[in-house]
Amino acid sequence: MLMRMFSEFFRQLFLYGLYILLASLMTGCFYTLQRPLILKKVDRSPGFERDIRAMMQKFCFDCHGAKHREAGLDLRTLRAILSGGESGPAIVPGIAEESILFEMVSDGHMPPEGKRPGAYQIRRLRQWIVSGAQP
Ligand code: HEC
Repeated sequence: MLMRMFSEFFRQLFLYGLYILLASLMTGCFYTLQRPLILKKVDRSPGFERDIRAMMQKFCFDCHGAKHREAGLDLRTLRAILSGGESGPAIVPGIAEESILFEMVSDGHMPPEGKRPGAYQIRRLRQWIVSGAQP
């Protein structure tokens, strides 16, 4: 009787152990497979061509593009943005708060009229500058 209880107990223990082992193996596999995807999402810093140019085309090029260059500023290329306008370079890569372009967009000074970029676009602009203003 006692022996049977013991063997039953150990059998159960063994099965539980097996379940736990299987479960952790499965979660382990899941995370290993998912990790590259998760990292890719987090790591992807914005680039000018891919993430920023379209926003500027929509909100800025009318006055800082081919036809007009208000304050001497052309926003069509990264090189032109870095060389800037009358007040000097429009951005300081890495420091959004020292970038006149970011300051003017985030406080609503630019664009001075018409539709404005949304909160997400402004956040993306900030990320772009903070992460080093990649091309
Ligand atoms: C309707 C025209 C117009 C639009 C659209 C516009 N700007 Fe401007 N921008 C101006 C004018 C005019 C000035 C100069 C006077 C001033 O600073 O208000 C200027 C000045 C600037 C300056 C300062 C340049 C310097 O060196 O002094 C920056 C930076 C700037 N704009 C960025 C932007 C950005 C970014 C956008 C788009 C989100 C934008 N502007 C959209 C008219 C415009």
